[in-house]
Amino acid sequence: MAKVILLSGSPRKKSNTVDVLKVCAEAIEAEGVETEIVTLRGMKIQSCIACGKCAEKGNCILNDGLDEIIEKIRDAQGFIPAAPVYFGTARADIMAALQRIGKVSRGTDRFLDYMIGGPIAVARRGGQTLTLQEMTMFFPINNMVIVGSNYWNMVFAGAEGTALDDVESIETIKLFGKNVAKFINKDY
Ligand SMILES: Cc1cc2nc3c(=O)[nH]c(=O)nc-3n(C[C@H](O)[C@H](O)[C@H](O)COP(=O)(O)O)c2cc1C
Repeated sequence: MAKVILLSGSPRKKSNTVDVLKVCAEAIEAEGVETEIVTLRGMKIQSCIACGKCAEKGNCILNDGLDEIIEKIRDAQGFIPAAPVYFGTARADIMAALQRIGKVSRGTDRFLDYMIGGPIAVARRGGQTLTLQEMTMFFPINNMVIVGSNYWNMVFAGAEGTALDDVESIETIKLFGKNVAKFINKDY
């Protein structure tokens, strides 16, 4: 069965980003596509050190657990990274992760080729559009397909557990998830 990996860049235990990803995953699964939410929470994600060892070894040699997430993405047909906004841009860990995921794909079997998805940004008040732009850069350079919705994939939520209150954004995320699954199922 086709599968989508949804990656949260939030460090919080009760994370708005994860709550949004749960909604997205539910919409994907309703179309018959499997999902798995993985999180960078608790991890100490390093930046790419440009060693190029991934091309020899097949995965990232940095010993922080991202290689296991990369293996999950390698086996999937869809990928949805989601970030909380920190000072107007994506939390640093998710960008470090994306850069290493892209480097490994390009240095090895190009597992990101034709993978379907798109980014999601969550913030209390502002910065989602720039955060989406940052994360969007990852997709075309890795020969991936970004799927649309009825708005940008941005949610307003500050305090823990408030993401679902942004009803309009949640509808956008649901449609996005449905569309990701439809593209994977080629039912469009
Ligand atoms: C260091 C830091 C910087 C933040 N910067 C912004 C910001 O620029 N704009 C904003 O609207 N919210 C900002 N926030 C709030 C978070 O984006 C918001 O609480 C979000 O819901 C967190 O998602 P999470 O629960 O998944 O971690 C910031 C929070 C932290 C901890």
